[in-house]
Amino acid sequence: PSLKEVFKSDFLIGAALNWPQITGKDRAAAVLIPQQFNTVTPEDVMKAERLHPVWGTYDFSKGDQLIAYAKRHKLQVNGHTLVWHSQLPPFVHRIQNIDSFRTFFTDHIKTVAEHFSGKVQSWDVVNEALNEDGTLRKSIFLTKLGDQYIVDAFKLAAAAAPNTALYYNDYNNEQPAKRAGCIRVIQELKKAGARIDGVGIQGHWHLGKVPFKAIEESIEQYAAQGVKVAITELDINVLPTKVTGAEVGQHFKGDAASNPYVNGLPDSIRQQLAADYATLFRIFLKHKDKIARVTFWGVHDAQSWLNDWPIPGRRNYPLLFDRQGKPKSAFYAVIDAK
Ligand code: XIL
Repeated sequence: PSLKEVFKSDFLIGAALNWPQITGKDRAAAVLIPQQFNTVTPEDVMKAERLHPVWGTYDFSKGDQLIAYAKRHKLQVNGHTLVWHSQLPPFVHRIQNIDSFRTFFTDHIKTVAEHFSGKVQSWDVVNEALNEDGTLRKSIFLTKLGDQYIVDAFKLAAAAAPNTALYYNDYNNEQPAKRAGCIRVIQELKKAGARIDGVGIQGHWHLGKVPFKAIEESIEQYAAQGVKVAITELDINVLPTKVTGAEVGQHFKGDAASNPYVNGLPDSIRQQLAADYATLFRIFLKHKDKIARVTFWGVHDAQSWLNDWPIPGRRNYPLLFDRQGKPKSAFYAVIDAK
């Protein structure tokens, strides 16, 4: 069976693609992508550090290659992302003058959104602007431009990409306090006359701890604001994430407790993953009128970013397809949820 066929009348089904998947070097993904998905998100190639490495010099080659790949396989594209504090080119951190920073900000959004206008169906315009308590994150954008920057970003994006759906995207924004902050962002945008079409709930969740109730309430509450909901970066981490500070960012060195399934996944964990995914998709189906898209953050387990985050070099199992690209029991559980 195929995910995109099964959920055809419900919502789009997507995957994030990185360079090996865009170029076809990843043979397992090359088979799965056209068979299973009808929308893709660039995992990294449309981030500022990639598109705009040197001030005023844009490199659209890899982003364009993703667009060409998507076109060949009749896939929609979600652009990711115009404004984000992370993966910025180094020059941005060296801009001292506020006017120069504003010039960078305006020029980046305009140039990128215009370049991909008509080629991407949606944009994550602003990514991860909120703290867990719902206040605005003290990012470089907030510090240099003030609260107004989110409204400015959406207005610039709307002008440059009039037919593209515009999303605010974040993680943990299904949790009540952060969700309230996210709703404030939507309301501020509307009050300022800016267009926002949807909220992205990233959906980086943890095995056995998926916050189903908060997710369902969030889908309802965001929809009540008159916007669509997308699940934009879905995966379920099966590894312990509470790791010691010293381990974070350090290559995995053999602490068995932080990499317990190096020789394969026990059946109990496999079944829990299937059950968690099934429950999630039952919620999505129940609210399919509110949900535009469900995108996984990767195609199969071998290429998931969670093998490398927060400790590089571990063995994670967060997706529906295994390291050979074979469907896991979680895949069949998702299909059966329909
Ligand atoms: C991650 C990518 O998957 C990695 O390849 C990269 O090294 C770091 O970023 N939230 C987001 C995504 O919005 O852009 C992040 O993607 C994962 C968390």
